[in-house]
Amino acid sequence: MTDPLRLGIAGLGTVGVGVVKIVQQHADLLTARSGRPVTISAVSARSREKDRGVDISGYDWEDDPVALAKREDVDLLVELMGGEDGPAKAATEAAIAAGKDVVTANKAMLAHHGQAMAEAAEDAGRVIRFEAAVAGGIPVVKALTEGLAGNRITRVMGVMNGTCNYILTRMQSAGLSYDEVFEEANQLGFLEADPNLDVGGIDAGHKLALLSAIAYGTQVDFGGVALEGIGQVTIEDINQAAELGFRIKLLGVARLSGRGLEQRMTPCLVPANSPIGQLEGGTNMVVLEGDSVDQIVLRGPGAGEGPTASAVMADVLDIARGIRVSTFGQPARSLVAANRAAVATAAPYYLRLALRDKPGALAKVAAVLSDCGISIDRMRQRSHGGEDAPVLIVTHKTAAPSLQEALEALPRTDVVTGHPVALRIEDV
Ligand SMILES: NC(=O)c1ccc[n+]([C@@H]2O[C@H](COP(=O)([O-])OP(=O)(O)OC[C@H]3O[C@@H](n4cnc5c(N)ncnc54)[C@H](OP(=O)(O)O)[C@@H]3O)[C@@H](O)[C@H]2O)c1
Repeated sequence: MTDPLRLGIAGLGTVGVGVVKIVQQHADLLTARSGRPVTISAVSARSREKDRGVDISGYDWEDDPVALAKREDVDLLVELMGGEDGPAKAATEAAIAAGKDVVTANKAMLAHHGQAMAEAAEDAGRVIRFEAAVAGGIPVVKALTEGLAGNRITRVMGVMNGTCNYILTRMQSAGLSYDEVFEEANQLGFLEADPNLDVGGIDAGHKLALLSAIAYGTQVDFGGVALEGIGQVTIEDINQAAELGFRIKLLGVARLSGRGLEQRMTPCLVPANSPIGQLEGGTNMVVLEGDSVDQIVLRGPGAGEGPTASAVMADVLDIARGIRVSTFGQPARSLVAANRAAVATAAPYYLRLALRDKPGALAKVAAVLSDCGISIDRMRQRSHGGEDAPVLIVTHKTAAPSLQEALEALPRTDVVTGHPVALRIEDV
């Protein structure tokens, strides 16, 4: 029998416990598939006393994850503590310096330090793999780095934060406000300790930045992701969008064109009958488009003990099998700095305005839009009881600067009250 692959697991929370369970329950299957046993030498977490619902008495305990990473009997550090810096970063760096491979589920750490870490790992002849960091149980990193390696990737799209999708779909199905469903999600334990990571789009933005690097051969550029969370999405917009045949999703889009790399994680309208439009609850979906394959759609659980541990184990088994793919699908030092696109690709937009109920008001709005070079596809004025009439407009493809100009000009008219709401309509 060949030597076992010996793991050191740092972090025994939701994901760490899931990994321990798979190693214990599927020992035979893992050995059969990789040709060598996968064992755990030692583990680390904050509290040694906590009952974790799995038997860890057969493993050595380390209080310090850095000491765990450096152990002689650890070949591979499995980093499942989380956090952009702190112990996760220290243990990962220590493992690489000590000549170990690393598997992590930590998108925050890689979105900020992925380039430097991948370079250090490759210089040391080691690998860092991160399937579990993006869209939980969906094997999207593998799909991009391996399955679609023969394609020029034309677009990456994804609904990659289950909590946001839960909130948006629940608002629609129950007719509840954002604040009400946010509170519900909080009670159910769906939100991160810092909820802005979820609802502010940061967590999903981290994931998009990692996928962009693989798709386009660029250094991870989280700072280049145009981020907008779901906090401003109202039940009114969800309902109006539905009447027009759309759903509102926190959608990530990455695309490389002659104008540069465009990365967005923003609330968008998508057709209700598209695969993304039909995505309900906490499920994730990633859509990958390549010049040869056309489009593939991956759908599955984006979080949770089993799905995330499943993705961690895919990386562990690759390493056990001797499959050593570069962190971002090509040598880290060959990744080029992302050239950020100055403006987003033109798209149709949904506009909602409150209009004073007076003669000629609609004509004034149409004139402002026309002056800004925006043409109207559809316009609908809602019946109303008060002074202001809600007006919905779907534009034809509009350049982002033209939209901006219109959004500034409309409130300056004497017919538009408040600030217009504008949401991009993504062609999916
Ligand atoms: N949960 C998911 O569904 C999911 C999905 C995809 C990716 N991820 C990623 O997976 C990682 C782990 O997430 P999780 O949900 O499993 O987190 P978690 O349940 O909060 O567990 C974190 C673990 O890390 C340990 N830890 C924290 N600080 C430590 C330190 N200074 N030294 C040693 N151990 C420390 C904690 O110890 P104690 O238990 O003793 O407190 C705990 O066992 C994160 O990067 C997360 O973003 C999670």
